[in-house]
Amino acid sequence: MNRILFICLGNICRSPAAEGVFRGKAAAAGLAVEIDSAGTGGWHAGHAPDARMTAAAKARGVDLSSLRARQVALSDFYEFDLLLTMDDSNFADVMAEAPPNATAKVRRFLEFAAASKVRDVPDPYYGGPDGFEHVLDLIEDASDGLVRHLMDKG
Ligand code: 4NP
Repeated sequence: MNRILFICLGNICRSPAAEGVFRGKAAAAGLAVEIDSAGTGGWHAGHAPDARMTAAAKARGVDLSSLRARQVALSDFYEFDLLLTMDDSNFADVMAEAPPNATAKVRRFLEFAAASKVRDVPDPYYGGPDGFEHVLDLIEDASDGLVRHLMDKG
């Protein structure tokens, strides 16, 4: 069983999209995974994903409607195997919070992307609709790579 937590800033755009997209691809590949998402910030705790992201994901067959935001918790560093951050700022924040005896590995989600050489999934919150499509393209690429990585690992 692989336990994976996707992390962004607000947990209402990028990491819920990653949770939903990766859940679908992992299920299609028959991978046993436990998946969740969280934000380094807590402003949106309890909120559903951003309506623009929910609509863009739905158009690709991914349902985000049941997800609710939460903040990263100390227990996440022990209860997950992989903490996958969306951008450098999230990575730095998570590393700064990591307890010395954390068992989870912290990595940048886009390390698993094959088609894109981009390092960060950009925050789409203050941009236009193209931003959400770009985020989903990056997330689909990295999710495919992560599925391959986990299948190879066995
Ligand atoms: P996310 O996007 O980190 O992809 O969920 C954001 C959502 C909300 C805010 C920032 C980023 N905010 O500042 O409220």
